[in-house]
Amino acid sequence: MNDPTPPESPYLRLGKEEGIRRLVELFYQYMSELPEAATIRNMHAEDISPMEDKLTVFLTGWMGGPERYRERFGRVIIPAAHEPYPIGSAERDQWLLCMRHALDAVEAEPDLIEMLMPAFTQMAEMCRTIDD
Ligand code: HEM
Repeated sequence: MNDPTPPESPYLRLGKEEGIRRLVELFYQYMSELPEAATIRNMHAEDISPMEDKLTVFLTGWMGGPERYRERFGRVIIPAAHEPYPIGSAERDQWLLCMRHALDAVEAEPDLIEMLMPAFTQMAEMCRTIDD
């Protein structure tokens, strides 16, 4: 018999908006602290709190929760939002490194990390503006 229970979304598994906010706070904390991520930290405004808010609401919808980004800020096309920034493979990898550390820090389960990292990688790849 097929299991009728749908798999839990990453949104639920990470602890809804509160859990995603914690993930995002840690993500930007790593971005600020890891010397390897200095290039991408410097692309962002000094006050990172507006981005903490934006990435939290974006990821909430992206991970299967309510579409809070759209409610608050309207539609966003993620690759287009990154057009002003010089993002090559090194910058993509810096972003992914910070996210990997943040997922480890919130103790996301290994199978969840294995599912999310390729999805983040695909998204980060689409944000590239430099084909190096
Ligand atoms: C590939 C490496 C990436 C770099 C270097 C990067 C960098 C940036 C920068 C500099 C900004 C503008 C920040 C500001 O206004 O101060 C931004 C905005 C944003 N990024 Fe990224 N980003 C990357 C990948 C991603 C990925 C993979 C996602 C989603 C999974 C994402 C989601 C967002 C969102 C939602 C915004 C706000 C857009 C807006 O409201 O205008 N970024 N990013």
